[in-house]
Amino acid sequence: MGSYLTTERMTLRRFTEGDLDDLASLHRHPEVMRYIDDGRPVARAEVERQLERLLGEYTALPAGQGAFAASALSSGAFLGWFALRPATTPGLTGGTELGYRLLPAAWGRGYATEGARALVGYAFAELGVDRVVATTMTVNTGSRRVLEKAGLTHVRTFFEDWPDPIPGAEHGDVEYALTREAWASQFA
Ligand SMILES: CC(C)(COP(=O)(O)OP(=O)(O)OC[C@H]1O[C@@H](n2cnc3c(N)ncnc32)[C@H](O)[C@@H]1OP(=O)(O)O)[C@@H](O)C(=O)NCCC(=O)NCCS
Repeated sequence: MGSYLTTERMTLRRFTEGDLDDLASLHRHPEVMRYIDDGRPVARAEVERQLERLLGEYTALPAGQGAFAASALSSGAFLGWFALRPATTPGLTGGTELGYRLLPAAWGRGYATEGARALVGYAFAELGVDRVVATTMTVNTGSRRVLEKAGLTHVRTFFEDWPDPIPGAEHGDVEYALTREAWASQFA
């Protein structure tokens, strides 16, 4: 199966229907979901629907966008995913949205930074996008740090009217962004 991107320690590739078990193990993990959606683990039946949507994105989205499964080059172990999509998260207006979600066993080893930097570079250098954006909860310190290490900067803190707010939502969400010009001056 062709890889989408290879980084120093990871290979990223398109998801397939055979990835349901790995995706379910990621999305059912309470620590992984702590700052995402309603903050609750996702049931397998819902992950099955999520996987179908992810697969559909490979044809529906602009070329090179969607969510990509990340595995360790050394062992082949599934680590999680990285994504680039036209921004749709409430509060964002335009841009190409960066996202990531890794298994706790992979945390604290620089994988998120490595993957985020690779996707940002790919978005600007290969896909020709103008602006990479991201949001996370204000209290999601790890995710904010990953965005900063990938070159994005804090644009604003904002408050959405979430239907089922989770602990920490009272501090709002943060938007980060990086323009093509700023990326070129930092990294190209
Ligand atoms: C957030 C997440 C992607 C970080 O992944 P990771 O591979 O551990 O991140 P890295 O190892 O690249 O660390 C990047 C930086 O963030 C810091 N960091 C990571 N997790 C942290 C945490 N929980 N609290 C504080 N800092 C943290 C690291 O120390 C590092 O900064 P440093 O180099 O200045 O020390 C991972 O914890 C995760 O998948 N969480 C669940 C899903 C999620 O919240 N996704 C983002 C939704 S918007």
